[in-house]
Amino acid sequence: MKPLRTIILAAGKGTRFKSETPKVLHHLAGKPVVHYVLDVADAVGSLRTYVVVGHKAEMVQKAVASRAEVVLQAEQLGTAHAVRCCADHFKGIKGDVLVMCGDTPLLDKQVIRKLMARHRKSGNACTVLTAVLHDASGYGRIIRDAKGAFVAIREHKDCSPQEVKVREINTGVYCFDAASLFGSIHAIKPNAKKKEFYLTDIVELFLARGGKVDAVVTDDWTANLGLNTRAELALAEKIMRDKVLGRLMESGVTIIDPGTTYIEEDVKIGQDTVIYPCTYIHAGVRIGRDCSVGPFARLRPGTKLGNHVTIGNFSELSRSVFADGVTMKHFGFMGDAHVGANANIGAGAVTANYDGKNKNKTKIGRKAFIGCDAILVAPVEIGDGAVAGAGSVVTPGRSIPAGMVGVGVPARVIKKAERHE
Ligand code: UD1
Ligand code: CA
Repeated sequence: MKPLRTIILAAGKGTRFKSETPKVLHHLAGKPVVHYVLDVADAVGSLRTYVVVGHKAEMVQKAVASRAEVVLQAEQLGTAHAVRCCADHFKGIKGDVLVMCGDTPLLDKQVIRKLMARHRKSGNACTVLTAVLHDASGYGRIIRDAKGAFVAIREHKDCSPQEVKVREINTGVYCFDAASLFGSIHAIKPNAKKKEFYLTDIVELFLARGGKVDAVVTDDWTANLGLNTRAELALAEKIMRDKVLGRLMESGVTIIDPGTTYIEEDVKIGQDTVIYPCTYIHAGVRIGRDCSVGPFARLRPGTKLGNHVTIGNFSELSRSVFADGVTMKHFGFMGDAHVGANANIGAGAVTANYDGKNKNKTKIGRKAFIGCDAILVAPVEIGDGAVAGAGSVVTPGRSIPAGMVGVGVPARVIKKAERHE
């Protein structure tokens, strides 16, 4: 199989986002938009991936540098110009080039695989991914001749009244033969109206030079939603959320109300766990089997729950690890805490994990009992089977030894605990 390289275009201004943050770095389900496109490149086996950056280049570079090579397009002179900026990297290179836009996070890996397979079989200079939209406004239109053969891509602004009615559009995803692409890209002339170099003009150029082009139509219109506005970002968030929740439910997780449950990408939840309404679970969280989470819970990044854990209403966890059978049924906050199996965290108990400079750790032992409204000022340790009395304040560096009861402010150890069942 011919080697595949990928170019992701992400140098544009994203003017309609009205943001100091480049639009490809806005978050979707907890992850920068451009990372989804990088995921697609990885999934289809891209040997090398280049991200073309320009507007706020340093910011985008920082976000992608660990996963791709960065190519600078100092002046944004159009999509063909952006591809041209990669030419040095493709000298003498044979194989295929997948070109995608950095602002299309919902691209479906299967659809891209299909596009690639068609391209590889065909010997085309270029295979374009297209979609039929109800409302095609703003997109480049796929122009076909009387026989239905694909002959050009026409940008909306350049369309004749007849062409503007076409509903088949260019998704902005293309598969090229590398040598053909870089053999012709320099011949593209600036668009008469916008003075930009349009990558889409390459279709007519290939045909004029005897190359073959083709279009693969996808029926999933959401898959190529380009995010040009914050409204589109919100729409993408909704689509992504439905996908994530759907996947989880399919794997055996009960989600009582998908409409009010927010779960980001890359969350793993075990079978028979129930997620109650109005719960927010951030990227990277891990939850075991047969747990109960919410309603109104928030599990922030770095949180890991074992099996049979109960997290009740108005509980917030951050970078905390709960072993099997821990219960925290009511409001409270645990940050940077490690909680042993079957411990009980009472209503209102919190870790004071941040001292203004550092985040400090709290260790709570197996079967420990943290009374209502206790404050654990980290770093602290509550031993196995120990009790922190209601309203107690355990101060930094202190501990309540295993099997003992500590009460008061600051907490004093007063007696043995009776919690040894
Ligand atoms: C482009 C296509 C259009 C297609 C649509 C799909 C062209 C001329 N038109 O239009 O046919 O229907 O995408 O979403 O290609 N970029 C750069 N450097 C530049 C200009 C753009 O890197 O100089 C990047 C942008 O950051 C963006 C992508 O290229 O990720 C597409 O650019 P954009 O301006 O959004 O193109 P559209 O007008 O949407
Ligand atoms: Ca766009």
